[in-house]
Amino acid sequence: MKNIMVVDDEIYICNIILEALGDFRDFNVRKFSDPVAALDHLDKHSIDLVLTDLVMGDHSGVEILEKALANHPDCIVILMTGYPTVKTAISVLKKGGYDYLVKPFKLEDLTATIKRGLDHQEVRRENVALRSQAELRKISEAMARGVGFNTVLEMINKTLLQQLPATAASILLYDKKQHSHRLKCIGGEYDDPSIEEFLNGRVSHEPVQRSREDVYCDSFDIIKNNIPCRRTIISNPLISKRVLLGHLNIVYDHPFKQITPGQMHLISLLASQAASAMESSRLIYNLKRSYLQTIGALANAIEARDNYTAGHTDRVFYLAEILAEKLGWDKRRINQLKTGCRLHDIGKIGIPDGILNKPGRLDDDERVIMQQHPIRGAAILGQVPFLKPIIPYILCHHERFDGTGYPNGLKGKEIPIEGRLLAVVDTFDAITSNRPYRQGKSHEFALKELREHAGTQFDPELVKLFQKAYEEGLINRAIKKGDEAVKMAVSPVTV
Ligand SMILES: [Fe+2]
Repeated sequence: MKNIMVVDDEIYICNIILEALGDFRDFNVRKFSDPVAALDHLDKHSIDLVLTDLVMGDHSGVEILEKALANHPDCIVILMTGYPTVKTAISVLKKGGYDYLVKPFKLEDLTATIKRGLDHQEVRRENVALRSQAELRKISEAMARGVGFNTVLEMINKTLLQQLPATAASILLYDKKQHSHRLKCIGGEYDDPSIEEFLNGRVSHEPVQRSREDVYCDSFDIIKNNIPCRRTIISNPLISKRVLLGHLNIVYDHPFKQITPGQMHLISLLASQAASAMESSRLIYNLKRSYLQTIGALANAIEARDNYTAGHTDRVFYLAEILAEKLGWDKRRINQLKTGCRLHDIGKIGIPDGILNKPGRLDDDERVIMQQHPIRGAAILGQVPFLKPIIPYILCHHERFDGTGYPNGLKGKEIPIEGRLLAVVDTFDAITSNRPYRQGKSHEFALKELREHAGTQFDPELVKLFQKAYEEGLINRAIKKGDEAVKMAVSPVTV
């Protein structure tokens, strides 16, 4: 049913139009000879089409047009005038009017213009639905491309705000162990504390039961900006394989309408996408974790065999972390650094014990075998796509700044920063650690070695950074942390 308003201060014109439109069963037509009453009606009711006279005593049809479009953005407004000018026509169309009719007009022209206007409105509304589908498709494509879980949820939240349009929306993750929700993303414009509570999952609205697995939807009247308004709150559970993963919350304020079935359908589709993104993320996380546990076990096996590396990788990480923080690396990169440090000597798994733990210097043949460990390590981890960021640590930590290192003889900045950084901290720890055949040297001695070989073995900028960190007391603190980690024997690997 289309809600149509006819506004004309000449009552007989209203009556004629009403009579002409009376044949259309799907038209609900209201007439107004008082423009003030018409403006009031526009504030309180849903309207699809307005037919208004242009000049009505002290009032203008332009006032009606502006109010209609302010309250009902997709409303069709047709103006009627007995004094047409090009200027008037342009002004009406510029303000968003759909068309205008010149009085006196034939009733066939009137009904044809109204029908054309309503058809145009339908097309516009279908375009909105298509835009929603386009947004859904964008999200699906992003998921297929493997973009991060957080990005997908942000896209879903943004789509809710754009397409409904919702006053505010949020996505909460459910923590089964804690029986509580954690806010993942939130957006919209609101200054009402009760909305914030609802979006954050802190339930103040009595009927909302967060553990429920069915959609919660409630509407109630509020006053917003001094205008009576209908607020709808929706909490849509995110469920995958019968497991509750979280909730998608929407607050929708509209002066006239409750949320439509089409909009509820869109919410439900977006909730399915969010649940599916969460499930994929959980599976990938579990897969990575089990893979890293396996590799971590391998790294432990090397540490158990190699007298030298016992505890070495933990200390190396805490030292490297200091430099990484000074370089401004983000959390994700520091996580990769942790795994890189933990696994950097994993290629030693293929080195015989006699060479690995030989007291004293290695002969030439033994050195050749020992120097294969970066390539062996890279080969072990290189088949796993998500470990690719780790490879530079494994492959390049024995490269030298002057190009005389191994395995590839890279020079200067050709050596990835991961390799240059690890070379500095790996050497510092090697000099200061106890070996089966000698006591570790002092920190000052190791620093002097780093300085003397800056520009030949090491990146001079990183050596300076390391020296500065030492003077700030950060290196001693990192060594203590590393030693404590060794005692507690905990060093999970993460990417
Ligand atoms: Fe190494």
